[in-house]
Amino acid sequence: MSRVAVVGAGTMGSGIAQVFAQRAWDTALLDVAPELLDKARAAIRANLERQVQKGALRPEERDAVLARIRTDTKPDAAADAELVVEAATENPAVKFKIFRDLDRIAPAGAVLASNTSSISITAIAAQTRRAERVIGMHFMNPVPVMQLVEVIRGLETSDETAGRILDIARALGKTPVVVNDSPGFVSNRVLMPMINEAICCVQDGVAAPDAVDAVMKLGMNHPLGPLALADLVGLDVCLAILEVLQRDLGDDKYRPAPLLRKMVAAGRLGRKTGRGFYVYRD
Ligand SMILES: NC(=O)c1ccc[n+]([C@@H]2O[C@H](COP(=O)([O-])OP(=O)(O)OC[C@H]3O[C@@H](n4cnc5c(N)ncnc54)[C@H](O)[C@@H]3O)[C@@H](O)[C@H]2O)c1
Repeated sequence: MSRVAVVGAGTMGSGIAQVFAQRAWDTALLDVAPELLDKARAAIRANLERQVQKGALRPEERDAVLARIRTDTKPDAAADAELVVEAATENPAVKFKIFRDLDRIAPAGAVLASNTSSISITAIAAQTRRAERVIGMHFMNPVPVMQLVEVIRGLETSDETAGRILDIARALGKTPVVVNDSPGFVSNRVLMPMINEAICCVQDGVAAPDAVDAVMKLGMNHPLGPLALADLVGLDVCLAILEVLQRDLGDDKYRPAPLLRKMVAAGRLGRKTGRGFYVYRD
């Protein structure tokens, strides 16, 4: 059986672990505290249960998927992994430390992938002695549903590593698209300026949030308007990515809207805090 370790059991890590376990991978899910791991396991169980209710999954398959996921608070659980996917907090110091540890712990031939949205894969790889086996594997939220995996090649990523990750992404039922390492890669370099401009429209009084979203949904065929999407991603996450784009590309066209800063300062972070551009009662 193939073995993967997923580091970080938040929104993305739990979804990534679920997707691997559903494709028969022996999956170790790691986080810093047992209660976070319990929460992740409950989220995965609820997701699988929904599939059972819809008749898309048999109850014994649900149980088999859950049995393939073991949880741990110690990075040593990555010692037998052939692939590690890091999905920890979007903070360079946190990720750099994780990759230094993984480089020591994971087997020499293992590929170390990061799900980062905006941190340089080349800089992460430079923390290890296996830069040729470090790569970006950028899943989209919600991971079990979304088709794309943006595969990011760092400066030193080898063809062999890229090939392995493309094969694995396809075997997971995803469609990988390869891009080079650059701030925001393609997904966020294109998405975040659109979200920022939508926020500017609200800020400048051009239209209310639901009108901005309606224009983009009905006029451009987007399934979700940019402001509803910003609430889903998290306004703090949007702000952090725009700051990276502005700083690392050195272009003020990525300057975060002052309204975005104000909302983050007020704790209106979107769905996760119950309020962003919209109010969420559940
Ligand atoms: N949320 C999204 O829509 C989205 C989409 C694509 C990519 N990403 C990226 O995925 C990564 C995770 O994002 P998220 O939204 O799941 O965040 P999250 O805050 O929900 O989860 C992060 C988890 O990492 C854990 N963690 C922190 N330090 C750790 C360590 N040293 N070892 C193990 N676990 C540690 C935290 O306890 C937390 O449970 C980030 O790099 C983010 O940029 C997020």
